[in-house]
Amino acid sequence: MKTTTSAADIYHDGDIDTNRSGNPHLHDLIEQRYSRRQTLFGGLSAAGAAVFGGMLLSACDEDDDRRAVTVTAGDAAATSSGRLVTLTGSVTSGTASGVAWTQTGGPAVVLSNASGPVATFTAPAVASATTLNFAFSGTSSDNLRSEATTSVTVSPAALGFTAVPKSLADVVAVPAGYQVTVLYRTGDPLAAGVSAYANNGTDGNFASRAGDHHDGMTYFGVSATALAPDPNNSTRGILAMNHENIAGTVAYLHPNGQTNPTGVRPEAEAIKEIEAHGVSVVEVVRAANNGAWSYVQGSAVNRRITPNTTMQVNGPARGNPLLRTRFSADGTQARGTINNCANGTMPWNTYLTNEENWAGYFRRDASDAAARTAAGRAKEVISLARYGVTSTSGNNRWSTVVPADPANTVFTRWNATVTTGDGSADFSHDPFTMGWVVEIDPFNAASTPRKRTALGRMNHEGCQIGRTVAGVRPAFYMGDDAQNEYIYKFVSNATWSAADATAADRLAVGDKYLDAGTLYVARFNADGTGTWLPLVFGQNGLTASNATYPFADQADVLINARLAADALGATRMDRPEWTAVNPATGEMYCTLTNNSSRTPANTDAPNPRAYTDPKLPQGDVVNADPPTTAQATRGNANGHVIRLREAGDTSEATSFSWDIYAFGSGADLNAQNINLSGLTADNDFSSPDGMWFGLPSNVTGQATPLLWLQTDDGAYTDVTNCMMLAAIPGRVGDGGARTVSNTLTTAANVTTASTTTTRIGAAPGTTLRRFLVGPKECELTGIHSTPDGRSLFVNIQHPGENGTAAAPSSNWPASQTGAAPGVRPRSATIVITRTDGGIVGL
Ligand code: FEO
Ligand code: CA
Ligand code: CA
Repeated sequence: MKTTTSAADIYHDGDIDTNRSGNPHLHDLIEQRYSRRQTLFGGLSAAGAAVFGGMLLSACDEDDDRRAVTVTAGDAAATSSGRLVTLTGSVTSGTASGVAWTQTGGPAVVLSNASGPVATFTAPAVASATTLNFAFSGTSSDNLRSEATTSVTVSPAALGFTAVPKSLADVVAVPAGYQVTVLYRTGDPLAAGVSAYANNGTDGNFASRAGDHHDGMTYFGVSATALAPDPNNSTRGILAMNHENIAGTVAYLHPNGQTNPTGVRPEAEAIKEIEAHGVSVVEVVRAANNGAWSYVQGSAVNRRITPNTTMQVNGPARGNPLLRTRFSADGTQARGTINNCANGTMPWNTYLTNEENWAGYFRRDASDAAARTAAGRAKEVISLARYGVTSTSGNNRWSTVVPADPANTVFTRWNATVTTGDGSADFSHDPFTMGWVVEIDPFNAASTPRKRTALGRMNHEGCQIGRTVAGVRPAFYMGDDAQNEYIYKFVSNATWSAADATAADRLAVGDKYLDAGTLYVARFNADGTGTWLPLVFGQNGLTASNATYPFADQADVLINARLAADALGATRMDRPEWTAVNPATGEMYCTLTNNSSRTPANTDAPNPRAYTDPKLPQGDVVNADPPTTAQATRGNANGHVIRLREAGDTSEATSFSWDIYAFGSGADLNAQNINLSGLTADNDFSSPDGMWFGLPSNVTGQATPLLWLQTDDGAYTDVTNCMMLAAIPGRVGDGGARTVSNTLTTAANVTTASTTTTRIGAAPGTTLRRFLVGPKECELTGIHSTPDGRSLFVNIQHPGENGTAAAPSSNWPASQTGAAPGVRPRSATIVITRTDGGIVGL
């Protein structure tokens, strides 16, 4: 007579030696099994069952004619974090009415197809080797349950692809097992009703098309049912991305290149050129069943933000006399944003765009300095010089346009030459409205972007927030990308509250965290320590009696952050580009792309190299072949990546320790003094620029996060196009001190030398690997992923930047699928996925 309840019986067998618990021995269980008519036992706990490994058997009771099945769970296996694991169970005798996989030990994972013989899961993030236990059970038609167990040992994340070779081909190359989809190209129609891009120079209306020079970019997950944030959605999202500029590619925007480039520019060409700058916000969707990605033309969130878009000025400089212009006489608004480089992704679902090389767009006639001084505005002359607003034409000479509508000021605003008065009647203050961090709500196309002046004015490359901890003031890390400029961080006055991440009024959350706080600049000490120096009016010489620039107030300090940082003694760096924060450790990385003005005489511990990088006689379309001595790149030719660890691992710290994660170099360069990180053919790179850690919503941002590194190079381009690498970096201090002997020979054949001791991290070895090489004359910049890490969005900027309309020097992206002679190149967002659907990179 059956005495079981509805639950299936448990019948175990296995290798008793694997039992590491205090659970009963097998014979005890068999005793129990056979005595169960008398003492019904409720079943072994799942954890208890886990102690039995290998094959399990079943049998029929000698005095019971019910029959069980025999099952196996497969051998113990090993893998690493992020990889797909397949559990294969089988019924080796008998016919099961049902089978199931369950996890019985280790960090919990989500099993797919757990009610079948073949289940899968993604190995979780672990910091050290960790064993997961699983049981496979089969239930017989007589309702007898048999079970076998197995285990999977998970090691920390490891790069899971074969290095892509360096290349000069006109395609995006990715590792075997990966695929590339071209998603959003320069000129692609964004608004409903806009025609397809002809790509022959006849297209207009760039305020409703994708801009040029795709750069920093963020993916925001969108709800399946509304255009609202869903941070977990990996198949519907919004991409917000920058369109940095048109340099090198402007010829492709017009039928035969720019007309009258040194005279009065045609209005229609200037409109197109201006509107090709700025930001795109565009909805993207993935087709069902891991299908292809596409963008949604006409989505309600789609938007172009351009140099003509009205912006609100927030923070301490709002309404400051230096921001008064003919556009906004009270200095509370600014017109547009330009040269938007890297990005920032705020945890409250907004996007930061950052104004980098804005200074060159403005025209200042030779008369300006004297006229300003005569108008009692001599301080402005000091400031404009420090920020490099020195062009007497302005990029593309937009200010020369004679508009059809005389009241239209979108061209003359680029002429910053002073006329009369306090600046509110002309555009002499327009350069002070640029150089800021700008916050955009990508979910509301009607919202007005806000310039966040508390974060200072400079050549903002990017702005990334560090880890957020409840009750702690968050930090925002920024590079000022010009030779010998500084690294900054802003620490909010507000302490972090997790509830803000889901607030409906996102820009109000931005007001809370980004409008009040302390801006700091970094000083790096030779001993591997460093200090954050506060840019606070009234402290440390930031006063009206400052000899270089008399600061009036805190707004003046922020508007002239460079002058303030000079006064504080900040460390001059080798062009600070992107920042990225390791989500597991909080350590901040900053790319220092290169510095042609670094010489042996001014190397220091954080910028220790100055040398001559040869150009090789091969391949390069830009340079003569064989190369001349003049083509060599000098200074810190290949750049490096510095990283710092905040004291106490807190964003509020005012001191830190630092080392250099990796030095760019050709693998063939001097191993003692140039190729300090021991790069090889699999990972040698030059001029690091874009940089991003995987998201903490998937394994690539947990435990031992994945770092992506992109290059914007002109030194190693005789050997390879720009590239993207993946890394699993260690920690600040995992290497040691290193002394470098520098020798640099100038084009005039003058050789100087110096010796500098730096702090270098552990050699990356195989934990740094080339993942992608881009097409001809491109730069890799801009990267983000879906929350699940399975779709990676990457921007290819300015392919063919040295060509002409008549003779394009790249045909990408048309060339991605075959030869496309004559087709004009376009910047574009690509999506990289694995053919097996797995997590990209691991
Ligand atoms: Fe826009 Fe510094 O790169
Ligand atoms: Ca950049
Ligand atoms: Ca760059």
